[in-house]
Order: sequence, then C-alpha cells, then structure tokens
Amino acid sequence: MDVQSIRGDFPTIRNSKSIYMDSACQSLKPDCVIESVMRYYNEFPACGGRSVHSMATSVSIGVDESREKLAEFFNYDDPNCFAFTKNCTEGMNIIAHGFGLRKGDAVLTTDVEHNSNHVQWIQMAEDVGIRRRYCRTSEEGVFDIEEFKRSISKDVKLVSLGHVSNVTGCSVPLKEVVEIAHDHGIPVLADGAQAAPHMRVDLKDLDVDFYCASLHKMLAPSGVGMMFGKMDLLKKLKPMMGGGGIVGLTTYDSIKVSPPPEKFEAGLSNYSGIIGVKFALEYLQKVGMDEIGKHETMLQTKIQKATEDIRGLSIVGPDDPALRGGVFSFNIDGLNSHDIAMMLDNMGGVMIRSGMHCAHPFFVSRGIDGCARASVYLYNDESDVDRFTQLLVKIAETFA
Ligand SMILES: Cc1ncc(COP(=O)(O)O)c(C=O)c1O
Repeated sequence: MDVQSIRGDFPTIRNSKSIYMDSACQSLKPDCVIESVMRYYNEFPACGGRSVHSMATSVSIGVDESREKLAEFFNYDDPNCFAFTKNCTEGMNIIAHGFGLRKGDAVLTTDVEHNSNHVQWIQMAEDVGIRRRYCRTSEEGVFDIEEFKRSISKDVKLVSLGHVSNVTGCSVPLKEVVEIAHDHGIPVLADGAQAAPHMRVDLKDLDVDFYCASLHKMLAPSGVGMMFGKMDLLKKLKPMMGGGGIVGLTTYDSIKVSPPPEKFEAGLSNYSGIIGVKFALEYLQKVGMDEIGKHETMLQTKIQKATEDIRGLSIVGPDDPALRGGVFSFNIDGLNSHDIAMMLDNMGGVMIRSGMHCAHPFFVSRGIDGCARASVYLYNDESDVDRFTQLLVKIAETFA
C-alpha cells in the first residue's frame, strides 16, 4: 500500500500542514469523490427517479451505479437490499421503528453501544413498552460470547449490536453471534459504522439480517449512510417516513407502498452524496480493505510504543493494538480529554476527538468522564503518528 501516493489524492492533506486523526467521526475525501460531487452540480443537478428528462436520467443512473457498487463492496447479490439513508443512525432508527416490536418484546444489545443503537430502544421502552436488555462486556469493553449466550431470553425478538466499538475499537465476532441468534430464531441488526471503513464486510458470509453503515466515514460525501436488509425482512419492515418516492398510486384514502429500497427513501435525496459513494468505494477497493486494516494496526502499534512511558496515560479499551481497529482512546491523569484535544490542535495542528463519543452509558458504568480518541485511516502515515505522540509526551510532561 503506497501511503504517500494515497496522501496525494486528498486535497486537505496536500493543502494543509494539520494532521487529521478524527476519521472515526468522518473521513477525509479524495479528489475523485469531490470531483463527482462537482460534476453533479455542474452538469446535472436534478432529481432522480422522477422526471424523464436527460439530466434526471443521469442522476438516476448515478444512484443506481452507487447502489450496485454497495452490493459489490459488501458482497451481496441484490442491490435492492441497500437503501440510502442520511447516515447510519437513520438506518438504525428505520429498523427499530419498522420492525414491529410490541409491548413485552425485548431487544438485546451490549453495554458499549453508540447512542445510535441505544436512544431509540429507550424511547420505544417508554412509548411502546418494549424491554431493552444488554449483555455485559469486560471492563475494557471486550465482547464475551458466553455472556451473550446467557443473555438470550425467550422475549428477545431482535439482537442489535455494534460490529466495532467507536470507543474501544473492539469488534464483535458477528458471524458467530448471527449463528447463535439464528439458532434461537432471532434476527440480528449490526451497526457497522466503525467496522465497514476498516475491514472487509461480507454480508453474504456473515448472514446478518440488517446492517447499517456511515458512508461518510468511508470517503463518501458528508450526510450519506446505508441500510441493508435481507429482502424478505425489508418487505415486512414499515417505512419510518411517508411521502413522495415511497409510493406507487395513491388515492384520497389509500396508498400503495413501493417495494424496497424505494419505500425507505422518501422525498428528494442527497444525490450528489449518493453518486459520490461509487467513487469512494471504488477507491477503497483499489487500495484493498485488508491492506487498510493492516496499515491501521501498524500505526496503532507505533502509537502504543511511543506512548507507553507517558506517566498516567491509560488506554480505554484493550492493550493489544490488533484488537483496537483504527482507534486509540486514552486518558492522562490530571488532564481533561477536551483540554488534551485543544492542546494537540493549538500546539501542533493535530485534530482528534474528545468527550464521551456518544457512548455515555459505557463511560458512566466505568466511572470515567470521557476520553481523548485519535483515529487513523488509510491516509495517515508514520510522520502523523510521530507528531501526535511527540506532542502528547510534551503535553503530559508540561501539564499533567
Ligand atoms: C459505532 C457508531 N455507530 C453509529 C454512529 C453514528 O453514525 P452516523 O453519524 O452516520 O449516524 C457512529 C458515529 O460515530 C458510530 O461510531
């Protein structure tokens, strides 16, 4: 993998001396993606799937091509099993609200979920009377398959869990989880926001029933996500929103809902963003997901070595860099995580994330009031890591 050539494809890297280590929030965009967005606005800024004129046809073709690319990227035969959403959260909500859970039904999650797989269950517990159960992970957030098996009870109608944690970087053995859940007749929804950008996700092999991801964390334009579901389940899933685009003929008293994926894509969409998806995924495919994963582990290992002597530094998550995906979450005794992030940016232009990372219950249950998180991606190189770790050593020595 030629990182220097990759860096040359990203204008924010070419044009700035700052270092971006917040890709777990949103990735940078390569030229090919930005050019595709510009092309949409310069050449055919129309709406897809409705008008029959040539600009609209160009949009519809672009949307279809991106949907086909999603199916190829995630190794699934039917592109119609992929709906475009504005982000991962929207997909998670469509499934939660449309799945048909009733009073007394339970959903099983884990104790390290992002709010996108947490808030709606609490809302539905209040509004519908569902039960929300979660299986505990270790103190470091490592998933325990035996605990998962023990957590399955008769009332569990859906398992919904993060494939990779945005805090600890730990992954769940999704294939095994799906097999166990299916043995109990329970479908599985996975939040792939932090997995899909960093590893090969083969939906056919995983046999998972629903899978959502943030395409904006995978080089695609901001505000695009995807929701995958097996066709028989998508047919039964109720759309969360009504409106144009999701129906065939309507009368004053009745509607005829379109088949998936249209029934989940109400109103005009973020066409420039969706069209950019094809170029983003092509870029990732060209580099290779396995290569990207290996590169991130190499950088994580380097970060770990360079920071192991910092007094008072503790990692949030497992010590083994290979278990942490692309994230390095940490605290330094005596320093607030937001202060660390501000100092890194102000002193050396290194941008990281801080706070509770939308996973409040995890932090509250561990008695930690947040952490700093540096996340790397295919365009970060060893010089980025060096600047980050050298600054961190300086900050710890001076202020901690
Ligand atoms: C694990 C996880 N799930 C869901 C989300 C939400 O993604 P989105 O902003 O695309 O809705 C994030 C965002 O960081 C995440 O890390």
